[in-house]
Amino acid sequence: MAQPAPSQSVGPLYRSDSQKPTATVSTKLEHDNVHILPQTPQLIALLTMIRDKETNRADFIFYSNRIIRLLVEEGLNHLPVVSQTVVTPVPGQKYAGVRFEGKICGVSIMRAGESMEQGLRDCCRSVRIGKILIQRDEETSQPKLFYDKLPEDIAERWCLLLDPMLATGGSALMAVEVLIKRGVPEDHILFLNLIASPEGAVSFAQRFPKVRVVTAFVDGGLNEKNYIVPGLGDFGDRFYTM
Ligand code: URA
Repeated sequence: MAQPAPSQSVGPLYRSDSQKPTATVSTKLEHDNVHILPQTPQLIALLTMIRDKETNRADFIFYSNRIIRLLVEEGLNHLPVVSQTVVTPVPGQKYAGVRFEGKICGVSIMRAGESMEQGLRDCCRSVRIGKILIQRDEETSQPKLFYDKLPEDIAERWCLLLDPMLATGGSALMAVEVLIKRGVPEDHILFLNLIASPEGAVSFAQRFPKVRVVTAFVDGGLNEKNYIVPGLGDFGDRFYTM
């Protein structure tokens, strides 16, 4: 059942609460492996654009891509790094920094997850991307795996699983099972999505406590057709066909 989502004043820090408008912000969840992006004015404005049913397809794609970029950047923050010191062009100067050590790949859950591939490529040049197609079996109403094509060495990679909407979680849970069967350790999987339902996020956290879910927003809940509410409608249709 949908819960009333919290309201918060939104705007730059230098303004007092009375000078800022209120907006609905993400529901908070008590699960360590669910990471919700900071509810900044930028993020709330971008989400407002893509939730609006009057937003045309070009704008929907543009603003979704901006959120996807934020999700990918945050997802990459969850990967381990090692020390790296570099010499700067300024004579005698060094900088003690870090670099990411390890191989990654993206895995998109078709079709909507494919919309997130470019955002991953923009951050990780020539990243390998696998695909998984899961659809509801008409007889059993259960999710069924129809197709998967994954990098051969996926077991040695950190996997960024891509699907913009985490509703019941049925497809994403099955996708994680596929990755684990192919040898990917559970704690090497990050699931990136734009909007999650509390039900979907919690069932994920309970079933796979080591998979990190990185989401922009946890919404109020699901309606009787398993659409996220207030949500944004069918993400794949709005990104690809409407
Ligand atoms: N998939 C969508 O595109 N939207 C929802 O609300 C739920 C699943």
